[in-house]
Amino acid sequence: MKLFLDTANLDEITEINRWGVLDGVTTNPTLAGKEGKDFAAMIKDICAEVDGDVSAEVVSTDTDGMLEEANKLAAIADNVVIKLPLIPAGLAACSQLSRDGIRTNVTLCFSAPQAILAARAGATYVSPFLGRVDDIANDGIALLSEICEIFRVQGYATEVLAASLRGPQHVAQAAVAGADVATLPTKVFHQMVSHPLTDAGLERFLADWDAYQQQLRG
Ligand code: E4P
Repeated sequence: MKLFLDTANLDEITEINRWGVLDGVTTNPTLAGKEGKDFAAMIKDICAEVDGDVSAEVVSTDTDGMLEEANKLAAIADNVVIKLPLIPAGLAACSQLSRDGIRTNVTLCFSAPQAILAARAGATYVSPFLGRVDDIANDGIALLSEICEIFRVQGYATEVLAASLRGPQHVAQAAVAGADVATLPTKVFHQMVSHPLTDAGLERFLADWDAYQQQLRG
């Protein structure tokens, strides 16, 4: 399972990229708005920092408008992936972009039938939003598992991108379910690496090392 970072903040992207675990970035209009910078310039900077795919979302709600935005965004860098909402106009734009050889991430997926449509429209990625499904008292991981199983049985080429992940347990569960990609906020990367026994173990090793050095010095 590849790991993407769900942010438009370049400092956060640079930090996690240095860990050597980053396969790509997803952005959305909400995340972009938090940065307060020109969107195209922001995507260009992110694409230069990261080798993997960078999702940039359109905001038009009609197919022609989406295609116009998509073509401009795709021209920014080779690793731009066009993010489209899972609505009829988004599916039509996805089909056209797929024919044009432009890669897509069909987002705001909340059901298996929606995911099937995205796959049939030629999406490169489809993004089920696990956390938002959990928020309305449904089971996000069950939805992800169902989509992964359908894609496996049907042999769909579209990659399943688990999105809206709220914690490390979500990431582990997405991996068990067979997601191709998980996109997570910076906070979740930090939560994933942290363990109290790692901290306590390191503290103990360093204290023992100091004692050993003092013993050598007599
Ligand atoms: C994915 O591409 C979305 O940007 C993101 O995962 C949404 O997460 P949220 O539900 O925490 O806003």
